[in-house]
Amino acid sequence: MRSQNRTSIRTDSLLDNLRTAVVCLDEHLRVIYLNTASEMLFGVSARQCGAESFDRVLPYLADHRERLNAAIQQGAAYTERELHLCAGVGEPLTVDCTVTPFTSPDSRPALLLEFLSLERQLRISRDDQMRLQNLANREMIRGLAHEIKNPLGGLRGAAQLLQREIGSSDLVEYTTVIIREADRLQNLVDGMLGPRRPPDKQPLNIHEPLEHVRALIATDLSADVTLARDYDPSIPDILADREQLIQIFFNLVGNAVTALDRSGTIVLRTRTQRLFTIGGTQHRLVIRIDVIDTGPGIDRDLLPRIFHPMVSSRAEGSGMGLPIAQYLTHLHEGLIECESRPGQTVFSVFLPMETANE
Ligand SMILES: Nc1ncnc2c1ncn2[C@@H]1O[C@H](COP(=O)(O)OP(=O)(O)OP(=O)(O)O)[C@@H](O)[C@H]1O
Ligand SMILES: [Mg+2]
Repeated sequence: MRSQNRTSIRTDSLLDNLRTAVVCLDEHLRVIYLNTASEMLFGVSARQCGAESFDRVLPYLADHRERLNAAIQQGAAYTERELHLCAGVGEPLTVDCTVTPFTSPDSRPALLLEFLSLERQLRISRDDQMRLQNLANREMIRGLAHEIKNPLGGLRGAAQLLQREIGSSDLVEYTTVIIREADRLQNLVDGMLGPRRPPDKQPLNIHEPLEHVRALIATDLSADVTLARDYDPSIPDILADREQLIQIFFNLVGNAVTALDRSGTIVLRTRTQRLFTIGGTQHRLVIRIDVIDTGPGIDRDLLPRIFHPMVSSRAEGSGMGLPIAQYLTHLHEGLIECESRPGQTVFSVFLPMETANE
């Protein structure tokens, strides 16, 4: 009786709204179905994989032929936890995987594969922690900066008065030092406070500020450093503060140049990504801007702290480039993430796509 009252829902649309990636294989291990979550997880398009062998469509599963064959022949279900999947070019994935044999509507044996991406769960909790930590840091920096600024103003003013009093005496040298150092400290504190105005969001194409930064940096690049682009030109305009985006990309590309130490490649890559959670909000579509360099990578010990203020491995670095970039990205409801290993460091800026005419 109950089923008669139920609104009828198409199974396809139901499966496409699942967070779990679902794949169906026929008895020859050819892909007969992929839901939207598996397209996103494995980076493939369901339209392009009609009845192809599973390992051609999903190279991530290529090593699992034997187990899948056994599952279909013996009709035995299995679950594997924290399975690490690798494919040639794609990023490695960590998933929980359940394989269940079933009988297809045409009475043939088939397999139902379910994948729950642990990467995503790890990322979301990391992301929340990072945002909280960032807020706490900013509060502390703000408090400290104000405490420094007031007495510093007094100090500088008094040194100026003193300078006027002592006229042309040799002692002017000392007051000059006081004033110069006070100014240096003032600049540092201003840098730590970051931008004080809210973002002025205007419709823009993400490639415009990126190209601006590329041109700025390219003029000063050593001959053995290549600054390449891999843009998706179909990305629609977004609402963003141009100056602030320039600052974000400038800090990231600047770091990549420093890391390369005169030879290597930097790639600026833009893509869109569907269903992405930032700070607890799920966005339908986000822009992902990757700054990729072939430098030595970031020390494992340093990596979890690079977005904290004043964390730097360079003698002349102030350690403010990344926290400021992260803060500016937060002002755009976005997020910066980093993955690094020797030979490849990727900083990814995720910006929610509110199309300019939305
Ligand atoms: N692409 C990269 N490759 C290797 N290490 C990096 C990269 N980007 C950042 N880092 C590491 O992260 C640290 C912090 O970067 P951040 O930009 O915040 O400060 P900084 O570059 O040291 O100083 P500045 O305030 O001048 O930017 C760097 O000192 C460096 O150790
Ligand atoms: Mg920097």
